Amino acid sequence: MAKAIMVFTSMTGNTEEMAEAIAEGVRQQGIELEVKEVLDATAAELEQYDGILLGAYTWGDGELPDDFLDFYDELDEVDLTGKKAAVFGSCDSSYEKYGAAVDILIEKLQERGAEVVLEGLKVELTPTDEDKELCEKFGRDFAKQLQL
Ligand SMILES: Cc1cc2nc3c(=O)[nH]c(=O)nc-3n(C[C@H](O)[C@H](O)[C@H](O)COP(=O)(O)O)c2cc1C
Repeated sequence: MAKAIMVFTSMTGNTEEMAEAIAEGVRQQGIELEVKEVLDATAAELEQYDGILLGAYTWGDGELPDDFLDFYDELDEVDLTGKKAAVFGSCDSSYEKYGAAVDILIEKLQERGAEVVLEGLKVELTPTDEDKELCEKFGRDFAKQLQL
């Protein structure tokens, strides 16, 4: 059976709420999912999984959160060919570069050979109930891609 890992970071809890709803959706489909905060994860361990979910809010002027920087650099050392991946994050549309961290991570995953199977999921600030349903669906859709 396919195995998946989710690696995320959240400073004020918004991306964490997304992560919880997405994890729920993945597990509803019967996929085994490991969930880790980015500071507890290494990019090398992604190689043990079929599916990779990354979650990050956007920081600075359209940048990755500081917590994600070491992990991001480590990605240059791993080969993700054959892996399926998707990215999510909470964002704020009052900033010019809306959810840029999601785009940065998608680009890096593709560069390392992963197939990004869903459009990045960006949610405005704290997820509403409707957003959480979208997150669960994102998780289910990701799991279905792993079951193809
Ligand atoms: C200093 C600072 C810079 C930010 N820069 C951006 C940005 O460039 N683009 C964006 O979409 N959101 C930006 N945000 C908004 C955060 O991504 C947003 O508050 C998000 O909900 C935080 O997620 P978290 O609760 O998971 O930490 C910024 C927030 C702060 C405090």
